[in-house]
Amino acid sequence: MNPVRNTGYKFSNDWISNGMKILGIETSCDETAASVVQDGRKLLSNVIVSQIDIHAVYGGVVPEVAARSHIEVINPVINQALTDANCTWDDIDAIAVTYAPGLIGSLLIGMLAARTLAVLHNKPIYPVHHVEAHVYANFITEVANGKWNMEDGKSKPIANSKIPITLHSAPSFPMLALIVSGGHSQLVLFHDHGNYELIGQTCDDAVGEAFDKVAKIIGLPYPGGPSIAKAALVGNPLAYKLPKSKLSGKYDFSFSGLKTATLRAVQREVGVDFTFPSTGLAERLDERKRNDFAASFQRIAIETLVDQTEKAFNDYKPKSVVIAGGVAANQELRRILSDRIPINIDYAPMNLCTDNAAMIASLGFYFSQKNEPSDPFELEVEPSISMTKTAWNTTL
Ligand code: KG4
Ligand code: ZN
Repeated sequence: MNPVRNTGYKFSNDWISNGMKILGIETSCDETAASVVQDGRKLLSNVIVSQIDIHAVYGGVVPEVAARSHIEVINPVINQALTDANCTWDDIDAIAVTYAPGLIGSLLIGMLAARTLAVLHNKPIYPVHHVEAHVYANFITEVANGKWNMEDGKSKPIANSKIPITLHSAPSFPMLALIVSGGHSQLVLFHDHGNYELIGQTCDDAVGEAFDKVAKIIGLPYPGGPSIAKAALVGNPLAYKLPKSKLSGKYDFSFSGLKTATLRAVQREVGVDFTFPSTGLAERLDERKRNDFAASFQRIAIETLVDQTEKAFNDYKPKSVVIAGGVAANQELRRILSDRIPINIDYAPMNLCTDNAAMIASLGFYFSQKNEPSDPFELEVEPSISMTKTAWNTTL
């Protein structure tokens, strides 16, 4: 279904200012986020309220709890993003909101907030695909006024400097993007904004999902990705021999076999057979073994990602390579990818790799250059639409 429908709703047409400021709103999973980004690249504010602590006790995201938590904080989060950016509604040129994919209850909260604000303040509204937006974290190249500490995930003043911080230069096309999150593992070749092809994807689990499941098996806390990365720092990556999957598609991935192989290796290590429930394994592992399993699993997961990315790089010779999504925060992945790819790779700050609204605002800007805004009375969420089915108009 095409989310970009213009059914005649009119907003005032004096909104294109010099330096277009877009308010991004993101609520697809368990982070409530709002951000103001200028011209798709300059970060003016970045507010993220994470529900990690709420869901940690359940070992994963509980959809109903997530939706309720979004309702509680969405308005203060949006107001904070405007305040941090020194903006009033008059300064905001448009709203970009995640419409897909994600948990339906969570998506609806951000979408309803965005639609209401678009009508109330007479602003154009653009629907943004969350997975595509992860790539656009790499297009945020400046932080305004030296105000924001990028590494701790919080928007707080770090200096009174009036000089913008330059993070890195913007990627060039053709651009190869390795998208690795909790729900996706894809290699996408971008020819231009909105003009891209999917060249590889996972045949089963997403890599972030595999990190999360293996963390659970070996008894590391949720979310599993950062926990495994931390444990792996002190573990031996060669302690356990785990297999790399062989695949038919040239640039495809598979992580389900690696996950099962890790489960079997843990069962063997603690002296039980394959029928023993995975939930009872963690307590039988000591800390050294836990760290060794984390490091051994992480090594193969990263090699799988890097092998396919390197193959695609050699075949397509892109001008830039970017990584996107929560797993892109993994330092070991960054280190090994940089070793194997013979061009410089600029990495987005950690708090722009995991879910945030700055990436939504950035993509919203590029999308707005080629597409009409949507009707705020009609815009809907699409919980499971893939990014290759998004509605870019590449002819404008
Ligand atoms: O992009 P994201 O924040 O949410 C989704 O759109 O899925 O990605 C979340 C995923 C989780 O599976 C989490 O465990 C993983 O990213 N992750 C990491 C790291 N930080 C987050 N995986 C490996 N290493 C990390 N440092
Ligand atoms: Zn995400």
